[in-house]
Amino acid sequence: MARSPLDWSTLRGTQVASDLGVEVCLLLATNLDLSQRKARAVARIPFWWHTIDLGDEVTTPGHSSARSQRVRTDAIPRRLKGKTVLDVGCWDGFFSFWCERRGASVTPIDDFQHRDFVREKYGVELNGGEGFRVAARFLGSRLKIKKCDFVSLQRPFDIVLFLGVLYHQRHPLLALEHLARLTRECALVETHYSKSSGQPLLHFYPASSLNDDPTNFWGPTLSCIDLMLREVGFRAVSLVKTYRDNDDRAIFLARK
Ligand SMILES: C[S@@+](CC[C@H](N)C(=O)[O-])C[C@H]1O[C@@H](n2cnc3c(N)ncnc32)[C@H](O)[C@@H]1O
Repeated sequence: MARSPLDWSTLRGTQVASDLGVEVCLLLATNLDLSQRKARAVARIPFWWHTIDLGDEVTTPGHSSARSQRVRTDAIPRRLKGKTVLDVGCWDGFFSFWCERRGASVTPIDDFQHRDFVREKYGVELNGGEGFRVAARFLGSRLKIKKCDFVSLQRPFDIVLFLGVLYHQRHPLLALEHLARLTRECALVETHYSKSSGQPLLHFYPASSLNDDPTNFWGPTLSCIDLMLREVGFRAVSLVKTYRDNDDRAIFLARK
């Protein structure tokens, strides 16, 4: 039977009201305390990549905007229940937590090479994984981040998220070959791309010439991404979307 909402006016002046009043005050105090604890834990992380709503009005101040994260989650296959998902380069884990909430069994990994970018561009030292662990704790997630390079993995996953990772690889075709080996159903590849040509070309960015990031190497054209994904064994490749963030970005869905 549905309960009707509490009508305070009928309780005013009664013992029940004063007991409930104490409980409500305690509840408010606990929520305030939790909110402060979350805010303090968030502030202790010197650099956040992802914007993550941790509840109680605390959101991580991510370099990556909520809008650009939404563009990417919109492209993730909707049927995740019971699927195994590998999140390559998960950083603070926004996409891992998103997939976990939808019933996937998620493996979040990162080799923490972003430490070089954060040190060079912002003069900040990260250990790697600290943001992920804080977010997991307050989101009630069971996920554990694993430090590893995805090329060291052997076991395949139903779905692989390869978001913002391709242009960091020194050997992009080899990296995509390994991505194909790790993918059972499909991979979502989100990347910077070069608008320079309709031809399948790779633009090389030496040193920190792309976004002041010494770990950025490549700007493939759209046809280059499409043809490389087919070359490494994906049977069906489709361009989901292009969009503008700090640079030109594209999202491809590659199916086995
Ligand atoms: C641009 S960030 C993207 C983070 C997140 N996937 C997103 O889209 O918001 C790239 C991440 O990939 C990680 N990464 C780069 N190469 C990797 C590799 N070979 N294996 C695992 N992680 C890698 C970096 O450390 C960094 O955390």
